[in-house]
Amino acid sequence: MINYFDPETDLGTPERHSDVQVNLDIDGRSISVPAGTSVMRAAAMLGTNIPKLCATDSLEAFGSCRMCMVEIDGMRGYPASCTTPVSEGMVVRTQTPRLADLRRNVMELYISDHPLDCLTCSANGNCELQTVAGQVGLREVRYGYDGANHLAEKKDVSNPYFDYEPSKCIVCSRCVRACEDIQGTFALTITGRGFESRVAAAGGDDFLSSECVSCGACVQACPTATLTEKSLVQIGQPERAVITTCAYCGVGCSFRAEMKGDQLVRMVPDKNGGANHGHACVKGRFAWGYATHPDRITKPMIRKRLEDPWQEVSWDEAVTYAASEFRRIQLTHGRDSIGGITSSRCTNEEAYLVQKLVRTAFGNNNVDTCARVCHSPTGYGLKQTLGESAGTQSFDSVMQADVVLVIGANPTDAHPVFGSQLKRRLRQGARLIVIDPRRIDLVDSPHARADLHLQLRPGTNVAMLNALAHVIVSEGLLAQRFIDARCETEDFARWRDFVNLPENAPEQLGPLCGVPAEQIRAAARLYATGGNAAIYYGLGVTEHSQGSTAVMGIANLAMATGNIGREGVGVNPLRGQNNVQGSCDMGSFPHELPGYRHISNEGVRAEFEQAWGVTLQPDPGLRIPNMFEAALDGSFKALYCQGEDIAQSDPNTQHVTAALRAMECVVVQDIFLNETAKFAHVFLPGSSFLEKDGTFTNAERRISRVRKVMQPLAGKADWEATVALANALGYPMSYRHPSEIMDEIARLTPSFHRVSYAEIDRHGSLQWPCNDAAPDGTPTLHIDQFVRGKGRFMLTGYVPTDEKVSSRYPLLLTTGRILSQYNVGAQTRRTRNTAWHDADRLELHPSDAESRGIRDGDWVGIGSRAGQTVLRAKVSGRVAPGVVYTTFHFPESGANVITTDNSDWATNCPEYKVTAVEVVKVFHPSEWQKRYQDFSDEQRRLLKERRAAEKPEKAEVRR
Ligand code: SF4
Ligand code: SF4
Ligand code: SF4
Ligand code: FES
Repeated sequence: MINYFDPETDLGTPERHSDVQVNLDIDGRSISVPAGTSVMRAAAMLGTNIPKLCATDSLEAFGSCRMCMVEIDGMRGYPASCTTPVSEGMVVRTQTPRLADLRRNVMELYISDHPLDCLTCSANGNCELQTVAGQVGLREVRYGYDGANHLAEKKDVSNPYFDYEPSKCIVCSRCVRACEDIQGTFALTITGRGFESRVAAAGGDDFLSSECVSCGACVQACPTATLTEKSLVQIGQPERAVITTCAYCGVGCSFRAEMKGDQLVRMVPDKNGGANHGHACVKGRFAWGYATHPDRITKPMIRKRLEDPWQEVSWDEAVTYAASEFRRIQLTHGRDSIGGITSSRCTNEEAYLVQKLVRTAFGNNNVDTCARVCHSPTGYGLKQTLGESAGTQSFDSVMQADVVLVIGANPTDAHPVFGSQLKRRLRQGARLIVIDPRRIDLVDSPHARADLHLQLRPGTNVAMLNALAHVIVSEGLLAQRFIDARCETEDFARWRDFVNLPENAPEQLGPLCGVPAEQIRAAARLYATGGNAAIYYGLGVTEHSQGSTAVMGIANLAMATGNIGREGVGVNPLRGQNNVQGSCDMGSFPHELPGYRHISNEGVRAEFEQAWGVTLQPDPGLRIPNMFEAALDGSFKALYCQGEDIAQSDPNTQHVTAALRAMECVVVQDIFLNETAKFAHVFLPGSSFLEKDGTFTNAERRISRVRKVMQPLAGKADWEATVALANALGYPMSYRHPSEIMDEIARLTPSFHRVSYAEIDRHGSLQWPCNDAAPDGTPTLHIDQFVRGKGRFMLTGYVPTDEKVSSRYPLLLTTGRILSQYNVGAQTRRTRNTAWHDADRLELHPSDAESRGIRDGDWVGIGSRAGQTVLRAKVSGRVAPGVVYTTFHFPESGANVITTDNSDWATNCPEYKVTAVEVVKVFHPSEWQKRYQDFSDEQRRLLKERRAAEKPEKAEVRR
């Protein structure tokens, strides 16, 4: 019997859903399948594999190879089973002598133009052509190889990750359809006709220069070795596979890590992955080489001063030294003089342990996480309005949306697999509104374009949201019945009266936002009346001085129009890092214990005190920016920073590095000597996601397993290092496996009560809340009532940011990500993804470039009130006049040298998205860049000298 959950079982054509069941007979056996199912799939469900080449169940059938012919009573000829839908009473024969002959003849033609190098071919043993040739019993090729053929066609090896070998192509078009249907890029086409037909990548001479975004869907779809991963060619066919989760973005794609011995051969997206359904992007599928990069540091190191060379020491020595420094500093400067930072790159279990260590072994609440600088306003804003600090939907929900509003997000670059799914929905006819200062790809992508692009000025999100709300209220577009039944009456009335004020009309706010009032009115009408309407937002909403206000404004819009609490609608924060949702869930904020419960709540504290055997401090501790301030004031002296590069990712770099320099003991745990580690006194080598067990929680609240596929290069997984540190500090921790940590989390966190590794394994993944009320998890939140009971409309008065343009700084800088690079770039810069993006660039409008005498590719200096840096210019119509844009993936670019200290009023999330700047043509790096280069060179030298310096210095450092 077929195992439907075996990802290697290909049923030939996609699943169909129908209330109507159809009965038919295949080779004398009866089966009942949903109407619309193909004969091929029905046969496969009976365990009968009809030979096929151009069909696969991830793509709609195409019917080109003719290999899948069958005989059907009452039908003439030999219909293709992949394109023939079942019908009631149909009688099908899949195996007859005549069919066997026909299939052999077709296969003979294919093989007569195919290199017979099976023994040395990279696909040997895993080639569908080879399998089908065996299946149909091909024994000879009568035509010989002397005539015209494609055997000498040139290989295209331009893509860093896969090769295209046209001599092996059978023109089945699976790659073309994968690029269109799954990825939505439409980069491939079949050129020519008949014998001249071949696959071509559009827009360039080869794959690398083409429009291809290297998602790999075509490689996965190819039934031959025509499109093949380079790693497979080099290493050979894998022997086993382990299901794990991507460690890049918040989509949380599930992968089969295919291994040969201890070597990773390739990452293949898992068909059963709840978030990705077998698709991936260039980062998750290909950019994993960083995990074994020579820059990895695999030995613990210590030093007394930043000017000293690093000394390699044992784990025991490093941990004992760190613990003794933490204790010394607390004795001298007080309990609150130290703190910790959890990582949104690490697992839930690891984030939980770090916050537990701070609250127990450090005895304070000085713990924060990198979510502070990205989605902390989401936590605050959604909690206030809806009662839960998380997105409301599954990604699949978008397939039922009629209108999609994307604000301050760039899904095709930053959340690519969701971006592909969204584009698919748009091609099916959903309408799109984009609110963004920049013309992101979604505004005009192949076969899908935005109905409206409101290209607002950076910093005016709240004004825009109020103007949209004004139209909904003043034009009578409210979902009054929903509001009456589901929301707090008084709060609603107050909000309605507020947004209805004339000062919130699009005619008033439009000029301020830089968007015509009519466009705002059209967007509001479409969102409120276009059917199921879903909002997706990103850091372009949160990273503002009014980030939390904007999140509340978004929730208000959803409640006002009844677009919440069912499939196809909702409020969906697109989370940046792989586990940013999880690190927040795990109690990483200084004011909250796991499950978003306030530290001041006596009952909650008592529960944790009993479980952890300590007395907890009732007041919130320091946030990351407060830690920096306190360090510069001299009251905060030591930091344990796990998997977070604050020296690169946090705003106003010079302020951050001054704070780090002011500390007496900085302990950094990371896989590389990152920018922060250059200011560290203890370096604990980290483990990549391939080297440990645990879980990540994605933007849909989906908890997925991370599984160890290789031993930790440094000997310890990150959670083991935290356990060792806690024990060295005298607080006992004795977990033997991360599953025991998850069991503790589940015991102490109501929304996780039914989560365990066994349950995750049973379901594949689980979306929290997962407890007695929802044992199988909760894909959609707020269905019958809001988590807080009644939804609460919040007032969202617009307060312009203090960061204003002036004659000295006349342009507004905003920032974002690019597809091939990831955040601070520590991982992707150490992969071949640099082939697409090897430096940050400053995008500026042609008119701004011309008035400054700047041409494409020129070096330009960017100065703000915080600092200066130098980048190359990219003249581009994507930004409006007066707005400039850059990515921030390379430390030497110093993008955060120019961002300011402004932050969200509620959460301190930095205002990365609005900085007033001036741009001028220059010929030298900035002063900061020169200092950065000197300091980095020095730190690299000290790292290099670590072995040489080890012996004489060692005794002195060990106290
Ligand atoms: S490259 Fe592969 S998938 Fe594409 S047409 Fe050729 S054989 Fe088929
Ligand atoms: S790698 Fe992705 S984008 Fe590139 S051609 Fe293949 S399917 Fe299209
Ligand atoms: S979309 Fe995100 S989670 Fe999925 S493969 Fe790409 S980076 Fe990984
Ligand atoms: S598999 Fe049906 S025509 Fe190719």
